[in-house]
Amino acid sequence: MATMESLIGLVNRIQRACTVLGDYGGEGMSLWEALPSVAVVGGQSSGKSSVLESVVGRDFLPRGSGIVTRRPLVLQLHKLDKGQSEYAEFLHATKKRFTDFASVRREIQEETDRITGKSKQISNIPIHLSIYSPNVVNLTLIDLPGLTKVAVEGQPESIVEDIENMVRSYVEKPNCIILAISPANQDIATSDAIKLAREVDPAGERTFGVVTKLDLMDKGTNALDVLEGRSYRLQHPWVGIVNRSQADINKNVDMIAARRKEREYFETSPEYGHLSHKMGSEYLAKLLSKHLETVIRQRIPSIIALINKTIDELNAELDRIGRPIAVDSGAQLYTILEMCRAFDRVFKEHLD
Ligand code: GDP
Ligand code: NA
Ligand code: MG
Repeated sequence: MATMESLIGLVNRIQRACTVLGDYGGEGMSLWEALPSVAVVGGQSSGKSSVLESVVGRDFLPRGSGIVTRRPLVLQLHKLDKGQSEYAEFLHATKKRFTDFASVRREIQEETDRITGKSKQISNIPIHLSIYSPNVVNLTLIDLPGLTKVAVEGQPESIVEDIENMVRSYVEKPNCIILAISPANQDIATSDAIKLAREVDPAGERTFGVVTKLDLMDKGTNALDVLEGRSYRLQHPWVGIVNRSQADINKNVDMIAARRKEREYFETSPEYGHLSHKMGSEYLAKLLSKHLETVIRQRIPSIIALINKTIDELNAELDRIGRPIAVDSGAQLYTILEMCRAFDRVFKEHLD
């Protein structure tokens, strides 16, 4: 009997294979879009990249003040068995296995600059990164440039709108789970993340509200009204987060220490102590993967239908190319076909 985890793993691999090859969804909703992913949305420097890193449990993203994330990063996490060793791989350089996460960060920076130049320009051409590790949950996460209100020196005036449109193009997809990041030291009512999330998901069904920078709030204030759902209601609980500060980053405080510090923060907090078991990055990661499972379960019938349609289209494509498959793309099509079949099979078993 296949576990839900292995099914989600399979979903991930099909998504990735589809990415490699372009989309084989044909008309209507594509296979890629039918499968859930999680996009991180928020204002510039609200802590998006930091949250994403904490969810993954690895340091590998460029972070800092100003516009650091300038291209979408589509990050696929693939769970390996215990004992297998961890590595990362970029779609633009599939021959290279990265085992050092500092070099993953450098590669993201360099690959960003390759398209945008060293300027503060943005590009909507995504960078695709896969992380294979025993310590991750199977999940597709998308890091996006931060929403801003004004263009800075060297940026065209249109950048404010360009970023918003880029972010919207991800979060408007009905299968996109929105991680809406709002920093606690700003008013939630004016949060760019919540504004956009409300626009594309008015019922709050696929939005997870995340409050960062709880440690930076003014003395005597707290975020309880937000965290307890009184300020802005969502279907899912709000999660408070304490990421590493810029000083922590400069001092190279590692992920394990950061998570410990975050846990201690909540456990010893006079304001949030009673919520401590529902706060923090580790809790958020669990919440997300549980939600993903639920979504996939609900989608099983429509995913199977799409997969069968994809199988038909792949067969037609393979007939057109002519078998046996010698060319690269034929081989890849065949791989996707095999994965789709496997997926269909395990999903049906799962239903029985
Ligand atoms: P992004 O621009 O939204 O991706 O934000 P980053 O993750 O790059 O973070 C921007 C800056 O805010 C960095 O200097 C982080 O160290 C800092 N930061 C993010 N979250 C927190 C937090 O919870 N507490 C503190 N003190 N600093 C944070
Ligand atoms: Na930033
Ligand atoms: Mg960022």
